[in-house]
Amino acid sequence: MKILETNSLKKYYKNGENVVRALDGVDITIDEGEFVAIVGSSGSGKSTLLHMLGGLDRPTEGNVYIQGKDIFSMNDNKLAIFRRRKIGFVFQAFNLIPVLNVWENITLPIGLDEKKVDEEYITDLMKTLGIYNKKDFLSNSLSGGEQQRVAIGRALAAKPSIILADEPTGNLDSKNSAEVTNLLKMSIKKYQQTLVMITHDERIAQIADRVVRIKDGRIVEKEGSLNE
Ligand SMILES: Nc1ncnc2c1ncn2[C@@H]1O[C@H](COP(=O)(O)OP(=O)(O)O)[C@@H](O)[C@H]1O
Ligand SMILES: [Mg+2]
Repeated sequence: MKILETNSLKKYYKNGENVVRALDGVDITIDEGEFVAIVGSSGSGKSTLLHMLGGLDRPTEGNVYIQGKDIFSMNDNKLAIFRRRKIGFVFQAFNLIPVLNVWENITLPIGLDEKKVDEEYITDLMKTLGIYNKKDFLSNSLSGGEQQRVAIGRALAAKPSIILADEPTGNLDSKNSAEVTNLLKMSIKKYQQTLVMITHDERIAQIADRVVRIKDGRIVEKEGSLNE
């Protein structure tokens, strides 16, 4: 069953006289429960695509469907609520709140939606991510790898159907990168979520179920190999 679909998605930015075609007609379909890695070089349109998939920004043309719903048919308010309930974001910068401890950072988004915290689920999630023993620590006392695991916990806390991650390992060394990606994969499989992860790291991308490549704002079958 597909959960996410784009239809001829375009995003053009005006830059003085020039137009940057950040996305130039993207059609992708992602199935429920899939872990898809989106790979491409810097400036290829990866972040723009992820922002559109998550409804953080509106396209110039085209549509994004989540569970069959055309998300950009919603007004900004409705879209913000939809996003908070359905989508968890993980970014390269961990964006934790330093004066809050690990438990508080993870449960913060639930409070925003005036929902009750499912303590059993949050405890299980933190144990899955290997950070339960740090639950009372201030987030800025943790290592980079630990902070990103907290950020993943925060993204999963409200039980969203879809996790969108933009270079989540961009600030981590190779050992922590592999560990965090494997944890992310393990978590979404355990909690039956769908994961779209952007990376420019081929080795990290190989952990995904499927790799999609983007170049100059378009999905490409295969990037030019070094042997060509
Ligand atoms: N807000 C913006 N205004 C103007 N140009 C932008 C903006 N965001 C991205 N771009 C341009 O769109 C292209 C794709 O950017 P981006 O999606 O961030 O690529 P990636 O994440 O793959 O590095 C780049 O040429 C970038 O400079
Ligand atoms: Mg980017």
